[in-house]
Amino acid sequence: MTADTGNRVVVTRRIPGSTIARLDAAFDLDVHDSEDPLEHQALLERVRGSAGVLTMVSDRVDGSFLDAGGDTLRVVSNYAVGFDNIDVPSATEHGVVVTNTPDVLSQATAEFTLGLLLSLVRRVAEGDRVLRRATPWKWSPTWMIGQGLFGGTLGIVGLGRIGREVARLAVAFGMDVIYANLSGEVRDVPYRSVTLDELLATADVVSLHCPLTDDTHHLIGAAELAAMKPGAVLVNTSRGAVVDEPALAHALRDRVIAGAALDVFEREPEVQPELLELENVVLTPHLGSGTDAIREAMGELCLGALSAVLVEGRCPANALNPEAMGRG
Ligand code: DGY
Repeated sequence: MTADTGNRVVVTRRIPGSTIARLDAAFDLDVHDSEDPLEHQALLERVRGSAGVLTMVSDRVDGSFLDAGGDTLRVVSNYAVGFDNIDVPSATEHGVVVTNTPDVLSQATAEFTLGLLLSLVRRVAEGDRVLRRATPWKWSPTWMIGQGLFGGTLGIVGLGRIGREVARLAVAFGMDVIYANLSGEVRDVPYRSVTLDELLATADVVSLHCPLTDDTHHLIGAAELAAMKPGAVLVNTSRGAVVDEPALAHALRDRVIAGAALDVFEREPEVQPELLELENVVLTPHLGSGTDAIREAMGELCLGALSAVLVEGRCPANALNPEAMGRG
């Protein structure tokens, strides 16, 4: 790769692995080397005059960001597969190419989804809490009975790359898989496509893997939770705002459904306080893609995208709006 120190690239957060050193060798690099996100105004100041920005899911890439980037900004590389934090049409109008990190994190996120699900139905997290609280216990045939996955039906909402990986793992656990895909049936998969209503009425486990869009915002609310089987559980490793959290907290408290496992929240890092009080929910702080190898692979994709646009002058394969290339 040709070094081009005339190109200023901003990285909006500390990231692990070799990515920073490699970016530093290729660009005039400005890293916000912190665990804390930049406030929006500070972010705008930082991106002014930059050619590329490596953003996080917590950075809002809207009209004000793109205006701040101005004529110099040519690429925004989001360190995530989800890009609901980015106004892609507006980026296209500004001639800014947007990229994400597809594929590399599908297996890790799917593994994590199964981990969360097992933790919920086999009461792993709850059992851990019992011991930490020094609750007196002894084994007995009735002690902390859970549910198994074998023979159950998994309903996947959003059969994209991550959803398909979850399906593959669930089959290995002996589950039947059905799916509801909001953008239509998926070809060449061995799973039955159903409507969301049928999925909710049939599945023992409802697992959410759809992107957050206007159509999926609060897709799962009070009515959808009431439509689920009373013994069913909900898993969300997609985006928090796909679920109406207050409605979910009520449904869990009133045992409308049996449980939930959540890795994502609508107002991260805040968690709906009622959820924290409930035993039939497993909560984790957005860990789905968090392994060393996956962070390295995400960094590699971001580096590749920034280099493609800024050094090689070509459109990267992971561009979400290739039509923006050369438009700025
Ligand atoms: C993603 O990639 O969208 C994750 O949620 C952030 O790692």
